[in-house]
Amino acid sequence: MRRTLIAGNWKMNGSFAANRSLLSEIKAGLPANLLCDVLVCPPAPYLVQAVELLSGSAVMVGAQDVSVHTQGAFTGEVSAAMLQDVACKYAIVGHSERRAYHAESNELVAQKTQQLLTVGVRPVVCVGETLEQREGGQTNEVVAAQLNAVLDVVDNLSDLVIAYEPVWAIGTGKTATPEMAQEVHHFLRRQVAVRDAGAAEKVQILYGGSMKPENARELLAMPDIDGGLIGGAALKSRDFLAIIAAS
Ligand code: 13P
Repeated sequence: MRRTLIAGNWKMNGSFAANRSLLSEIKAGLPANLLCDVLVCPPAPYLVQAVELLSGSAVMVGAQDVSVHTQGAFTGEVSAAMLQDVACKYAIVGHSERRAYHAESNELVAQKTQQLLTVGVRPVVCVGETLEQREGGQTNEVVAAQLNAVLDVVDNLSDLVIAYEPVWAIGTGKTATPEMAQEVHHFLRRQVAVRDAGAAEKVQILYGGSMKPENARELLAMPDIDGGLIGGAALKSRDFLAIIAAS
């Protein structure tokens, strides 16, 4: 039985003061019998603040990206070892915003995944098609290429978390129907199963793209949807807690 993971991707939002309020509200509102894993991914300057504010709570902290390099003269970059050093448990890689705005290729995302695994930070590997690709019937081909570039370089596939985020559903209010999402999640799990059937049963596959309290329950009820990667709704404690409660 896979545990559900509810993860908030804060993107480029937050401040010391706003984070303090949001995290104290989340901590106070968590159910006593929390049945899922909870993760928040603030911008890099606030990782340490989040780790400190959440110490002693069940909520884990993750990063939104990582450098492909190990260390040295790479101005502006943050290494996997640094994320591990400040107690990040997870890091998102290959988010569609990074693929689109920073031209991140499937191979680069695979290398970033390797960097994280080397230091024991769990990668959340994002895949997803654009509207044009979906309408052109290319969804499976696109997500398979994105995922397989990563699977090619990882030894223990159950160390991964995968997030299916259809690009057309991100920040648009348009959500994939539970059936549409389930179909892609099932396809992604089969891609893992081709290489390692045991890992495919274990690997968590999250859905992301306009997940909200109103649609979380039916998405999370699908057999291959093991959690959510939540953008906008993760910035409101009431909404984030309601999604946790729906899991
Ligand atoms: P929204 O929930 O705002 O659509 O963002 C989803 C996302 O990109 C999470 O990584």
